Amino acid sequence: MDIQIDRVTKWIRDALILDNVSLELHSGKVYGLQGPNGSGKTMLLRLLAGLILPTSGAVTIDGKRLGKDMDFPPSLGLLLEGPAFLPEYTGLKNLELLADIRRTASREDIRQAIREAGLDPDDKRKYRKYSLGMKQRLGIASVLMEKPDLLLLDEPTNALDDAGMEQILQLIFRERDRGALIVLASHDAGLLSKTADEVYAVYEGRVRRKEP
Ligand SMILES: Nc1ncnc2c1ncn2[C@@H]1O[C@H](COP(=O)(O)OP(=O)(O)OP(=O)(O)O)[C@@H](O)[C@H]1O
Ligand SMILES: [Mg+2]
Repeated sequence: MDIQIDRVTKWIRDALILDNVSLELHSGKVYGLQGPNGSGKTMLLRLLAGLILPTSGAVTIDGKRLGKDMDFPPSLGLLLEGPAFLPEYTGLKNLELLADIRRTASREDIRQAIREAGLDPDDKRKYRKYSLGMKQRLGIASVLMEKPDLLLLDEPTNALDDAGMEQILQLIFRERDRGALIVLASHDAGLLSKTADEVYAVYEGRVRRKEP
């Protein structure tokens, strides 16, 4: 998969959110986004997910324009800040409901993704009883279960303990080796330096490559 962000500018009312951003992204690579609060990392991920459209410029995925030739990337795993699930269902039930939408993940895929994210698929607790880190882990399982070609991860290590951080690291490597294209926004410079093939500094809606 080849993604081209071509001179994208995004205004929301009178605020400049993305300022003439151009980037090229390719399968099998990990791209890191680093920058202060409010700099535009989440907005850049939302742009790639098709959740916001550029005011000017274009996002093209394998020659097809996002928002024109398709509404969303065809195979997307999206982890945004604070993933939301249904509080009265177990983790497994929540993911089964999500999987029923696209029908690409089997019941065993779901259970395996839950295990890989460090949770127990047979845990009978409802989501509302999950700790913060458990909620984050379920969010991670939900993006892994469908083995997407494009993974957009916003602060994936939020609320994770040391074991969870290490699991994320291994999962990122595994997904990359499987051929996924991964874009990772994180304040964790260590995580970015360990995983990212290219790191980009995001500042006031502008993006520039950080020297390796
Ligand atoms: N729904 C919205 N409507 C208008 N402006 C928004 C909206 N959400 C975010 N913004 C603005 O967009 C800019 C970029 O925000 P964004 O959430 O992308 O920052 P970020 O780099 O992800 O920050 P953080 O490190 O805190 O997650 C900020 O100026 C923010 O105020
Ligand atoms: Mg953010």
